[in-house]
Amino acid sequence: MSEPLPIAVLVSGTGTNLQALLDTVHGREAEIVAVASSTAEAPALARAESRGVPCAVFARAHYPDREARDRALGEWLDERAARLVVLAGYMELLTPQFLARFPGAVINVHPSLLPAFPGLGAIEQALAYGVKVFGVTVHFVDEGVDSGPVILQRALELPHAREREEVLRALRPLEHGLLTEAVRLYARGALRADPANPRRTIIDVPAQRGGDG
Ligand code: GAR
Repeated sequence: MSEPLPIAVLVSGTGTNLQALLDTVHGREAEIVAVASSTAEAPALARAESRGVPCAVFARAHYPDREARDRALGEWLDERAARLVVLAGYMELLTPQFLARFPGAVINVHPSLLPAFPGLGAIEQALAYGVKVFGVTVHFVDEGVDSGPVILQRALELPHAREREEVLRALRPLEHGLLTEAVRLYARGALRADPANPRRTIIDVPAQRGGDG
C-alpha cells in the first residue's frame, strides 16, 4: 500500500466524526497530522490528544480578523505538511486565502441533503420545513456556504422525526461512514471533477482483476 496521506482535521465540537477518522483511516490510508479547533472547549481535542495527534486552538477572538486567524491556521497546517483538510463539525467559515492554500483539498461533512438546508442548524431547518427524508452530504469546500461539489450523499427516511437529537442519532452512522469513505477515496486519488461539468465529482472505481488468476 502507498504512504498514508497526511491530513488535518478541523473541529469545533464533540468530535464523533474525528473519532471515526481516528478509528478507521488514521495510520492506514491517512495519517492525521494535525487537529485544529475553533474553541478550546471542544471535546474533540481530547480525542486527538489521547491518540498523540498534535492539536492547536485557533479561536476567532485571539486574532484581529478572520484573515489573520486563517493565515495562522494555514501556516500551522503547512508546517505539519497536511495535504487534505477535513472539516468535521467545524463551525467557522474559511477565507478564500485559506482555501487557495489547499486548492481542491478541503472537504466537509454536512447533516443535510445539500443544496437543502445549508449553514448552521441544518437539522433544525429540515425539521422546521417538515421533511420526511433527511440525509448527509460530504462535499468539497468552495468560497460559499456548503456550496461546493458533492462527493458522497446518503438519504434516510425519518417520516415521524420531531426532535433534533433523534435525527442526529440516526444520521451519525451515515456521517461517519461517508466521511471516512470520502477520505479513503481522496487518499487513493480516486476523486476528480467531471470535465463536462466540474460540479460533478467522478469517483474512479479500481479496475477489477480479470480472469481466474
Ligand atoms: C456533525 O453533525 C456535522 O455534520 C455537523 O456538525 C456535527 C459535528 O459532530 N457539521 C455542520 O453542521 C457543518 N455545517 P461531531 O463534532 O460529533 O463530529
